[in-house]
Amino acid sequence: MSETVRGVIARRTGAPVELVDVVIPDPGPHDVVVRVQSCGVCHTDLHYREGGINDEFPFLLGHEAAGVVETVGESVTHVSIGDFVILNWRAICGECRACRRGRPWYCIDTSNASKSMTLIDGTELTPALGIGAFADKTLVHERQCTKVDPAADPAVAGLLGCGVMAGIGAAMHTGNVSRGDSVAVIGCGGVGDAAIAGARLAGAATIIAVDRDPRKLAWARQFGATHEIDASAEDVVERIQELTGGFGADVVIDAVGRPETWKQAFYGRDLAGTVVLVGVPTPEMTLELPLIELFSRGGALKSSWYGDCLPERDFPMLIDLYHQGRLPLEHFVTERISLDEVEKAFDAMHHGDVLRSVVVW
Ligand SMILES: NC(=O)c1ccc[n+]([C@@H]2O[C@H](COP(=O)([O-])OP(=O)(O)OC[C@H]3O[C@@H](n4cnc5c(N)ncnc54)[C@H](O)[C@@H]3O)[C@@H](O)[C@H]2O)c1
Ligand SMILES: [Zn+2]
Ligand SMILES: [Zn+2]
Repeated sequence: MSETVRGVIARRTGAPVELVDVVIPDPGPHDVVVRVQSCGVCHTDLHYREGGINDEFPFLLGHEAAGVVETVGESVTHVSIGDFVILNWRAICGECRACRRGRPWYCIDTSNASKSMTLIDGTELTPALGIGAFADKTLVHERQCTKVDPAADPAVAGLLGCGVMAGIGAAMHTGNVSRGDSVAVIGCGGVGDAAIAGARLAGAATIIAVDRDPRKLAWARQFGATHEIDASAEDVVERIQELTGGFGADVVIDAVGRPETWKQAFYGRDLAGTVVLVGVPTPEMTLELPLIELFSRGGALKSSWYGDCLPERDFPMLIDLYHQGRLPLEHFVTERISLDEVEKAFDAMHHGDVLRSVVVW
């Protein structure tokens, strides 16, 4: 039987979000209904609201979520009613070319719910990243649910569902940071600070935080930054070189995603170093570089989609590290808010006042 819950939607480009009634259909054979307990406010939700991802309005926003499985479709085997889960947007298929080649983190056919959630009048909603969790309950595919230790605080655990995983994975998986490396992270929001935490977990010796907001630089320390660069006042490339014995960093992670920050990452690396782009550029941004610079500096220029994570491998492991005191995930939660405060949280994000505002139930 379908049911009606409250959910936060973006109806058209740039318009403030609205709290409305959302109809959750009966789960299809492999779908589950999750009672949402927490959902972080990610920059990507704002990108959706601004029409920067696609124009399939109205969107049901929210995607960094944890909750409890409440109802399961008839063929569900992956999770059971009552499981505490983190929602993911990489429910790998096992069948596509990427999966068959043993690179499932590039899966191009990840699974989502088989039915649409709708407004009362039947208008179909597009759930952000196939999740849509700024809602009391949401409908997802069973493999979008990753079971983790239920002792974890939902507000903390849910953040692994997107930005924090993207950042940690940008360092550990995409950037392949290893013991003794020097790493610089440009943009120390939730994603950048997670990249700092990931670099520390991987054993980086020098971790340079770069931001133009001094408050962000202070927070970056809590995650493992060993040095800070104020991008509003200092020459980022020069300072990275100074802090790395004149060489540049082994890995530079751009967690902003603008041409100017990407160029800083490109020139801030050591020869044959790695650039990881994890911040998401907008479609109109372009880049111009002398091709000879790409040739002569060598190395790897990579993008990180969701930190190249595998939710079933990474989420339970990172929750364990968190419980052991080796990953300070709790510091990402700046404030806990209610479902009707998402628009306010976008403002706070815009002003740089928070790492993450998390809606809790
Ligand atoms: N690749 C992925 O899978 C993935 C997943 C989640 C989020 N993201 C993207 O990552 C990016 C960061 O997300 P977030 O939630 O951390 O955002 P955020 O807004 O919280 O953080 C961005 C930070 O960058 C800083 N900044 C902005 N311009 C800068 C500049 N020119 N130089 C230095 N610092 C600058 C800001 O002060 C802020 O601290 C967004 O583009 C988001 O869409 C990517
Ligand atoms: Zn696949
Ligand atoms: Zn996100």
